[in-house]
Amino acid sequence: MRYLILTDIHGNSQALEAVLRVTADEPLDQILVLGDLVGYGAGPNEVVEIVRDLALPTRVIRGNHDKVVAELEDGAGFNQIALTAVEWTTAALTGDNLEYVRELPLGPLEVGPGVAICHGSPLDEDEYLLSTDQAQRVFETAPVAVTFFGHTHIPTLFTGNGGSVDVRILDADDGEIELAADRLYLVNPGSVGQPRDRDPRAAYMIFDSESHSVTPHRIEYPLEQAQQSILDAGLPPVLAQRLAVGI
Ligand SMILES: [Fe+2]
Repeated sequence: MRYLILTDIHGNSQALEAVLRVTADEPLDQILVLGDLVGYGAGPNEVVEIVRDLALPTRVIRGNHDKVVAELEDGAGFNQIALTAVEWTTAALTGDNLEYVRELPLGPLEVGPGVAICHGSPLDEDEYLLSTDQAQRVFETAPVAVTFFGHTHIPTLFTGNGGSVDVRILDADDGEIELAADRLYLVNPGSVGQPRDRDPRAAYMIFDSESHSVTPHRIEYPLEQAQQSILDAGLPPVLAQRLAVGI
């Protein structure tokens, strides 16, 4: 089974469209979307409609922004810019699309034998999984062979090997990375719509469950169009500026 893994699209329809265009000829069986479809970017309806209409079988879970946009939570931990974007997004979404976002399931979700997806961490959808200590706690509590996560917007590979954990920040030049059958993995493909690793290109990942390998990818997309849409929508200009630097 070959999976296309997308996360943290954040209303950036230009980035999402570019990823789907470049992967259209790939032999893929399923698409996994790890949450934060909306929030920050100016194309929330476009993104939700693209995800709803994907031709391949697709599993989608919610992210923290989806939850706050859908008014399932009040966004207490959000900064003012994020809250402004949330309010704009809630108002901009059509009734149907808002309902779709509201109904997105909470992770973690098992999507295949030994394969799960979550937004922040399998233990807490709002947790930023950044350290080897956090990863070790996950490996001890939820020992799934491969769990894909998002939320940090940084392409990352945690490898659990009994009592120790290795961490590696992923790069598009890494190519295909084989995963060992006797280890546990937490893998973040990086963000489609708002990368934060100082590489502004859209990030996505291919996971091949037969060869048990992941391949990180980065692609250019019409970034200036995404920026212009944000400015035209009256969203905070910093949301347009940050796209260009990948922070
Ligand atoms: Fe996010």
